[in-house]
Amino acid sequence: MKNLFLILFTLLVTQIQAQKFEGLALTPPMGWNSWNTFQTNINEELVKQTADLMVSSGMKDAGYNYIVLDDGWMAMERDSLTGDLVADPKKFPHGMKAVADYVHSKGLKFGLYNCAGTKTCQNYPGTRGYEYQDARLYASFDIDYLKFDWCNTKGINAKEAYTTMSMALKKAGRPMIFSVCEWGVNKPWEWAPQVGQLWRTTDDIYQVFDAMHNYGTWSAFGVMKILDLQDGLRKYAGPGHWNDPDMLEVGNGMRISEDRAHFSMWCMLAAPLMAGNDFRKMSKETLDIMTNKEAISINQDGLGIQGFKYSSKDSLEVWMKPLQNGNWAVCFLNRATNSKEVKFSWKDEIVSDSLSNMQLNAKTNIYKIRDVWTKTNLATTEKDFKAMIPSHDVLMLRLSK
Ligand code: GLA
Repeated sequence: MKNLFLILFTLLVTQIQAQKFEGLALTPPMGWNSWNTFQTNINEELVKQTADLMVSSGMKDAGYNYIVLDDGWMAMERDSLTGDLVADPKKFPHGMKAVADYVHSKGLKFGLYNCAGTKTCQNYPGTRGYEYQDARLYASFDIDYLKFDWCNTKGINAKEAYTTMSMALKKAGRPMIFSVCEWGVNKPWEWAPQVGQLWRTTDDIYQVFDAMHNYGTWSAFGVMKILDLQDGLRKYAGPGHWNDPDMLEVGNGMRISEDRAHFSMWCMLAAPLMAGNDFRKMSKETLDIMTNKEAISINQDGLGIQGFKYSSKDSLEVWMKPLQNGNWAVCFLNRATNSKEVKFSWKDEIVSDSLSNMQLNAKTNIYKIRDVWTKTNLATTEKDFKAMIPSHDVLMLRLSK
C-alpha cells in the first residue's frame, strides 16, 4: 500500500514537472547565439555587452529574448571530484550562475550548449553518460535554453540520446527550451516534436547567399541552399515545435538585399530567429532588418503554419504563408543575379493549402496589400500586381481581408 502510494506520488510529480515544459515555444524562439560570429572566443564581458545591447538597441522590444552561449564556454575537463562541468575560469571568472543572473536582470533569458556525444564539436567535455547530472547543473545555474549538438556520438541512437536528455531536463525541473541540433541526419522532424521545441534540419549555415562548401565529413550551406533543403518538412512544424534551418547570418557580410531576403525567408519558414552577429558593431541597416516588426509578425504569427513555395520560374520564386484571421504573407524572391519583373494576377491564382485548410481566393475576397519592407499600403487584390525585384532581394507582402 505504502509502495503504491509512493509510485502514484512519483508519477504525479513527474507529470507536474513535464507540464511545466508545455507551451515553451508557442511561436518560434527568438534570440542571439554566439557561434556564427565568435565561435569559441566568448567571455563574460561579451555576454554582458550583448545583453545590454539587446535591450538598448530595440532588439528586445522586437521580441528577441534568449542569449545563448554556444560551444567553448567550458573548461577542458570536468571537475575531478564531482564530475560537474565547469565554466572556463578565464572566460567566465565569476562562474556561469553570475552570467545567467546578469542576463536575467535585463529581463532576458539565458541558454547554454553541449553535445550528446563524449565531447563537443570543439572537443570540450560532452554530456554522454552525464545527462541527469548536467541537467541538474543547468537548472542550478537557472538556464532557460539548451542547445544539444551531435558530435562524437558514434554508435548511439539519436532519438534515444535526445529523449534521455529531454527526460533529464524535465527531472531537473527547470523549464528549458531544448534545441535538438543533430543536423537532420536521423530525420529529427519525425521524433523531435515530442522531445524538444526545435530541431536543426541541415548542416551548418554560413554567410553566403547561394553556395555550399564541402569540408569532407560535413558541408556548410549558404542561405538559398538551406532554404532548398526545407522542402517537404513544413508539416512537422507547429506551435511548440519548429524546424530549425539554423541561425541568422544577417549582419555578417552579405549584401543588405541578401540579408533582407535571408531574414524574410526565415520569417516565411516560421524559423527560430537567432541572431548571430556582433551587436557591438551592428549597422543601422542590419538592425532595421532584424527589428522589422511587420516581418517578425509574419514569423511569430499565432497560427504557427510554416510557409511554402507556391511557384518557381527562372529563379523567381513565390512563397506563401497562411496567417491568422484568414490573412496571408506572400514573398517574391529573386534568386537571379539580375533584376526580375514580377507579374501576379491575384484573381487568376487561387492558392489552396491543405495543411492549414486555408485558401487565398481573390475572386471571393478582396485583400488589402501591405509592403512589409517599405511599410506602405499598395492597391488591393482587385488589381493585377506588377513590380521589379532587384537581384538577390525580396518583395514581402501581408494580405489582409
Ligand atoms: C556544430 C553545430 C553548430 C555549432 C558548432 C559548435 O557544427 O551545428 O551550430 O554549434 O557545432 O562547435
